[in-house]
Amino acid sequence: MNFEFTEEQLAVKQAARDFARQECLPGVIERDELQRFPKEQIYKLAELGFMGMMVKPEYGGSGMDTISYVLAMEEISKIDASVSVCVSVNNSLVCYGLQEYGSEEQKQKYLTPLAQGIKDGELYIGAFLLSEPEAGSDATSQRTTAEDKGDHYVLNGIKNWITNGNSASVYLVIAQTDPAKGHKGINAFIVEKNWPGVTVGAKENKLGIRGSDTHSISFQDVIVPKENRIGADGFGFKFAMKTLEGGRIGIASQALGIASGAYELALAYSKERKAFGQPIMNHQIIQFKLADMATKIEAARLFCLKAAWEKDQHLDYTLSGSMAKVFASETAMWTTTEAVQIHGGYGYVKEFHVERLMRDAKITQIYEGTSEIQRIVISRSILK
Ligand code: CAA
Repeated sequence: MNFEFTEEQLAVKQAARDFARQECLPGVIERDELQRFPKEQIYKLAELGFMGMMVKPEYGGSGMDTISYVLAMEEISKIDASVSVCVSVNNSLVCYGLQEYGSEEQKQKYLTPLAQGIKDGELYIGAFLLSEPEAGSDATSQRTTAEDKGDHYVLNGIKNWITNGNSASVYLVIAQTDPAKGHKGINAFIVEKNWPGVTVGAKENKLGIRGSDTHSISFQDVIVPKENRIGADGFGFKFAMKTLEGGRIGIASQALGIASGAYELALAYSKERKAFGQPIMNHQIIQFKLADMATKIEAARLFCLKAAWEKDQHLDYTLSGSMAKVFASETAMWTTTEAVQIHGGYGYVKEFHVERLMRDAKITQIYEGTSEIQRIVISRSILK
């Protein structure tokens, strides 16, 4: 077993760290307050190759491994989780799904510009449309329909809480083609945002990751060419499950970054802030909080890296991905809450980053499979 990173992995980590501090930190509080999508930051990340990190170079990607992706996600998420969720969705849910399961034509037409993140000089990213008003955790209960009309499908329905909902140009849409077949009647489709019948709903006013644009998307009699179906007929649910497995490594790494960002701030603050005549780091109650933070964060990091390593080795990473997600997201929520506590009154106001990190942490326990869903996946895996 080797716990050392390669020079390339360390270079990716450093590049992501520098980018986050130089390009994401300025204005992060304002973007959160105004719910402003970090378009400039995402465009620059695309230019640096961070939007298609694990895509093969022949399809416009950077050809990196999943370990590098975890390292980059952690560094960006320490500073701005609204940026990192956009990076995660495009890399894990959109590019990975297309690279793994798309046809050669789909890869040429859609994956290549999506991995580059730029097309004709404009930002070009994707979104993953599974959740519906009545189908979040219960993902087989899809109400969106795709009626088979021979050479095309007709798509109708509504999708909710879609990350990159307005900024994406391409949607991967999960829909029910044959309700009688249950999950085996579900398909996944590539849909372009500017096609007739596609409508972007109002932006959600969220607790956290307020810079990311989350919208509902509705489809009314949208014509989808048959060649835009991903995989064989009825493959859509498995496509969603396999794609989400990779997504969970991305969100676990985001949670890890939120936790480690809050920990670094709490550590620095405890050295500066004085109470009872000495820096608060000299009080054992603060030392123990910091010790517990550091321990949990290191465990979360090891979970994320193990899942990433298994994915890179083409091993089954269903279990490790879910363990990473549930542990890292709960670590993020706990650590950010404690970081606010260490900051006292300052931690409760918006000028101090821990306040935002605590709000951002919550979503990591919800999206791409709630903590409860991860426990279902874990228990099924260990009890089989
Ligand atoms: N890989 C491959 N196949 C899988 C699979 C996996 N990980 N998990 C399930 N399947 C297959 C099963 O084998 C089964 O197929 P067969 O009948 O051929 O054997 C089929 O899928 C149905 O499986 P289940 O009976 O286990 O289905 P279920 O209804 O019990 O649900 C679940 C399983 C794990 C709970 C699943 O519904 C799930 O993961 N739900 C959570 C969905 C989710 O993560 N939503 C997040 C929304 S996306 C998002 O947040 C994006 C964003 O914008 C940030």
